[in-house]
Amino acid sequence: MPTDPYWNHNTQYHPWVLDQVPATARTALDIGCGDGLLARKLATRCDAVLGVDIDDRVIANAPAAPNVHLEHADFRDLDQTFDVVTAVATLHHVPVRDGITALRHLVAPGGTLAVVGLWKMHPVSDFHYLPLLPAIWGLDRWRRRSFGGPDVTLADPRETLTEIRSAAAEHLPGAEIRRRLMWRYTLRWRRPR
Ligand SMILES: C[S@@+](CC[C@H](N)C(=O)[O-])C[C@H]1O[C@@H](n2cnc3c(N)ncnc32)[C@H](O)[C@@H]1O
Repeated sequence: MPTDPYWNHNTQYHPWVLDQVPATARTALDIGCGDGLLARKLATRCDAVLGVDIDDRVIANAPAAPNVHLEHADFRDLDQTFDVVTAVATLHHVPVRDGITALRHLVAPGGTLAVVGLWKMHPVSDFHYLPLLPAIWGLDRWRRRSFGGPDVTLADPRETLTEIRSAAAEHLPGAEIRRRLMWRYTLRWRRPR
């Protein structure tokens, strides 16, 4: 397992993502792979990992690693399927229904989709998130020496968690969505065989 060169609100959830990889998984896809850190970690669990990012500059600067292929592409244009598909802080870069339907088609029968996402906070439905702020600030403070990350394109989330849940209920039946610390939710879905 590569040692993390930095910590941030996305790498915080890499252990969760890796826990979703079934022992039988051979192929993995990480969409919006950035510098490929998660793709390199996935390669410790799978035989072949593809990382795609729409930003060719970030792909060109990513370190090479065995069994990892990084490619400049929009994930919505891919037509292969994979045993595991991961998306960390990327789904909110496209309209949620477009993104979710494209991700669904990339998961092989019996395969797993693991998303770490951002949502647009709503003052009413996210009110009970407020008591978590001290824990978020505490963790940020504790990890600040290692805080960092690749120079990637960022975007503000456009959809509330209610909208994301509704899109998932329609296109990823049975998906499990959980609100997490560090302004992230996780979504796990298994495609039926
Ligand atoms: C916030 S960054 C997250 C990068 C990485 N997953 C991480 O956790 O550090 C979002 C990434 O998604 C990429 N991206 C945005 N839209 C994309 C698309 N349609 N297809 C592939 N990559 C996309 C951006 O170029 C950017 O590198």
